[in-house]
Amino acid sequence: MTRPTNDTFLRALLKEPTDRTPVWLMRQAGRYLPEYCETRRRAGSFLQLCKNPSLACEVTLQPLARYDLDAAILFSDILTVPDAMGLGLYFEEGEGPRFERPLREEWVIRDLAVPEPYDHLRYVTDGVAEIRRALANSVPLIGFAGSPFTLTCYMIEGASSSEFRHVKTMLYTRPDLLHRILAVTAEAVTAYLNAQIESGAQAVMIFDSWGGALSAAAYREFSLPYMQRIVANLIREHDGERVPSIVFTKGGGLWLESIADIGCDGIGLDWTIDIGEARRRVGERVALQGNLDPAVLFAPPESIAAETKRVLDSFGPGSTGHVFNLGHGISQHTPPESVDVLVRTVHEYSKKS
Ligand code: CP3
Repeated sequence: MTRPTNDTFLRALLKEPTDRTPVWLMRQAGRYLPEYCETRRRAGSFLQLCKNPSLACEVTLQPLARYDLDAAILFSDILTVPDAMGLGLYFEEGEGPRFERPLREEWVIRDLAVPEPYDHLRYVTDGVAEIRRALANSVPLIGFAGSPFTLTCYMIEGASSSEFRHVKTMLYTRPDLLHRILAVTAEAVTAYLNAQIESGAQAVMIFDSWGGALSAAAYREFSLPYMQRIVANLIREHDGERVPSIVFTKGGGLWLESIADIGCDGIGLDWTIDIGEARRRVGERVALQGNLDPAVLFAPPESIAAETKRVLDSFGPGSTGHVFNLGHGISQHTPPESVDVLVRTVHEYSKKS
């Protein structure tokens, strides 16, 4: 198989030379786009949109029709995995995700099993194949999953949380039970990501959105080793091409060296760290993805361009090894024109420098 016509994203991750810095945005298909809201309305709900491969394909392509992005990301959610494990995912309007059956009882935790991706998550593997056909080798498709720790937070709390009371109580009183959930979830995520790769995902990203809520010691025990286990068991090559992996721990700036050690090809950075400093710490071992503050997109075009150039300048000359992105998902309140300014600035400025 050949690389996509535009392979700058893959080249940057694999540290091959590129003629400009590639860019894509976390949550690039989302509520800031009126066409997304329209398709979501036709689907009936966010979850029905995720579970319909053709509609998921349609919204995956929407940001690429508007902007000159260098990668597509599968439209789905990290919580499809716990849903397939039987926890009963639903979304309460304006309240975010919820589980009907959060994990609290020891016997339920003992019974937890790894779902078969081609059965319970068939709508995702079918969606990946459909998106690949629709992309027709234009840009690479990124597959993704949540980290075991981040998924476990939702599985135990049953909803979004700021305190993580139930997870942390279990962590400090019954670490054996938490390790059991994490081990099963790591196995589920590995099988799920490998099924996405077999179905056509050309790179994969692990979202550890809540790893940064842990102490350094707890991160080293409860989040990092499970991501390491996943990365070690991912299919490394498919159709004759390397399939790079990216690990994103939000709030993980203090632990970059340890993250670089787990064998991933790229590290996703949130906006709290200077990307130049991150590069000096780990840049030769892994590629870096990030890290503009998503709130910059609320500012006028001149400020967006200036802040975008600041990130590119900070990463420094030699555009390879950098995938431009936001430091977290794009806000639903983002003006769509702001994204155009960002993408154009990344391409034009990185070509010059
Ligand atoms: O990047 C992309 O475009 C791919 C799609 C994607 C979504 N969620 C779509 C989505 C990805 C990669 C995710 C990952 C995800 N989901 C994470 C990790 C990244 C992060 O943000 O930290 C997490 C923690 C979730 C769980 C989740 N899903 C929450 C907390 C919410 C509610 C927040 C909100 O914005 O309402 C969701 C819903 C969700 N996932 C939306 C989208 C586009 C909005 C749903 C809608 O259309 O109403």
